[in-house]
Amino acid sequence: MPETAPQRARIAVFVSGRGSNMAALLYASRFDDAPYEIALVASNDPGAEALALAEAEGIATFALSHKGMTREAHDAAMEDAARKAGAEHIALAGYMRILTPGFVKRWEGRMLNIHPSLLPKYTGLDTHARAIAAGDSHGGVSVHLVTEDLDAGEVLGQIAVAIRPGETADSLAERVRIAEHQLYPRVLAEHIRSTRHAD
Ligand code: GRF
Repeated sequence: MPETAPQRARIAVFVSGRGSNMAALLYASRFDDAPYEIALVASNDPGAEALALAEAEGIATFALSHKGMTREAHDAAMEDAARKAGAEHIALAGYMRILTPGFVKRWEGRMLNIHPSLLPKYTGLDTHARAIAAGDSHGGVSVHLVTEDLDAGEVLGQIAVAIRPGETADSLAERVRIAEHQLYPRVLAEHIRSTRHAD
């Protein structure tokens, strides 16, 4: 009997902005051997560029502004949308909200984030400027599991990016972004394959 390909894992991508990482995840999912498909792109900003791109690509979207809502209520609505889309994993891709502990707990091991630094260095914001100011030889990008503490979960993959003389935060960010787009689809795919084998 010929082996049938395993079903693709359904992914919800949470975004707040431009969505270039969402696009990288989406286009990598077009390969025949990709182990995942994007089931939903969801955002706390109805005007996010990422949503318009997802719609143009025929991907289901969900948008709900967090303004005037409690964190719990907003998270619950985002989670409900992810579950209705049949999501098995969540990929945070420039999602600028801190999730409630209950949400994080329910998706433990199944929620990833991309962060523009070589973690554990430079959690939080302004990572490139801080790496340059510290005189680091490299900046970079990490993909990690999401835990309750900000940018502190297990690192699943990293790419280091050299800091050149005269580098600015913007010029470094531009090259790190190229690395981000290579890293995220690959780490997500590896994570899905390895969690499948662990079942
Ligand atoms: C990326 O730099 C990512 O590392 C960080 O937020 C940014 C999102 O950019 N978490 P984009 O919206 O994917 O272009």
